[in-house]
Amino acid sequence: MAQKVQGTEDLYGGYMRAWQRMQDVARELFGAYGFDMIETPAIEQVDTFVHGIGESTDVVRKEMFRVVSGALFSDLLALGDESRLKPRQRMAMRPEGTAGVVRAVVENNLVPQGAAPAKLWYAEAMFRGERPQKGRLRQFHQVGVEWLGASDPAADAECIIMLMEYFERLGFARESLRLVINSMGDAACRPAYREKVRAFIMDHADEMCEDCLERAQVNPLRAFDCKNDHCREVMAAAPLAPDNLCEECAAHYASVKRYLDAAGVAYVEDPTLVRGLDYYTRTVFEVEAVGAGVGAIGGGGRYDGLVELEGGKPTPGLGFAVGFERIALALAEQGVELGGEAPACVYVACTPGEVERAAAFDACRALRAAGVRTEADYQGRSLKGQFKQADKFGALLCVILGGNEVAAGVATLRDMVSHEQVEVPFGRLADEVLARLG
Ligand code: HAM
Repeated sequence: MAQKVQGTEDLYGGYMRAWQRMQDVARELFGAYGFDMIETPAIEQVDTFVHGIGESTDVVRKEMFRVVSGALFSDLLALGDESRLKPRQRMAMRPEGTAGVVRAVVENNLVPQGAAPAKLWYAEAMFRGERPQKGRLRQFHQVGVEWLGASDPAADAECIIMLMEYFERLGFARESLRLVINSMGDAACRPAYREKVRAFIMDHADEMCEDCLERAQVNPLRAFDCKNDHCREVMAAAPLAPDNLCEECAAHYASVKRYLDAAGVAYVEDPTLVRGLDYYTRTVFEVEAVGAGVGAIGGGGRYDGLVELEGGKPTPGLGFAVGFERIALALAEQGVELGGEAPACVYVACTPGEVERAAAFDACRALRAAGVRTEADYQGRSLKGQFKQADKFGALLCVILGGNEVAAGVATLRDMVSHEQVEVPFGRLADEVLARLG
């Protein structure tokens, strides 16, 4: 039997409805904040991710699925490496949405000088070659927003407020969410801070794991996220980002917190929150569903240098993304079925006979034209078999068309719960059904 790739999932039934609901709620809420939807290609040039996300990140170094056209694949095997491929021949499946959206903003000049900002949201599959486990997939789905051209700390606060509102509208109890924030500084103060952390790790080199020693060279701040307990204990005494901010970054962070306080949004400051992507500057944040055991359900932050890294003019930016699969798991744990109930339907049953079948065909057309989800039999079942099938579909009403009904120009409407039956004129069928479905 053919099998799906490890770490991927098929979306159908209630799970698909859950994914669609996440998009519906996003469209409504993010729309109120002025965001429009964007879709960028699932494959981009590798450089888009390398420049944006950062060469030294795990996402770029270990997790990106590379894409090679069939024609080039054998060349690549023969060459042994990709050094002779042109940049446009080196492609990858997107591991996240931000770099591609920023590339699209630059390429399509969506934030021309002095013009309105670009406020974009997306709902897309992402691909990361991680070890699959609960809430960690190789193809997963994110809903995210990117806001280009806003430097004011009010924008950071609004993004976070919108994110928390989004979680609530999806069904999370506010108390079940833990919002963690931090500021990572900017191009003015972060380089010196990174050096301090690097020096700290090297001072404790004999206590740190091999990975952290490597991190010290390429990306020292990642040591705060080491899975090794002892490394984390050591890093608890390391210099912290909020204590090493320049004046502007400190003022920005204080202002974001004031706005959050004014909006009554509860948060925890975690001075070790560094996030796994290199483009962040200043505000970063993550949200966890307490006790769900699926890791962060969403995260984001400001990235004032990213547009330049993708070849555009200096433009501030910020955004976040949330993970559909983790949200569905966390909500299920709280007893909330994100996909809700299957939509109500009506079943049209008829007795055998050409005239009855033709009447059933007409009834289906009339009901569907009125927007009613309508099912019927397409396998020549007996009337009893059709009733059984109506139950399987969860039909609320059954329209019954026998020879007598058709001759009299009526249809029998059977309530599938109370089993009460009434006759209605055939011409009024859709209205009568709509009235009963409420
Ligand atoms: P991220 O923290 O890498 O940020 O991912 C955002 C969310 O995607 C996570 O909080 C998690 O819910 C979900 N997620 C990540 N990896 C997986 C996985 N392997 N399986 C299932 N779910 C996963 C970003 O991607 C940034 N682009 C967010 C952002 C937008 N920052 C600014 N703008």
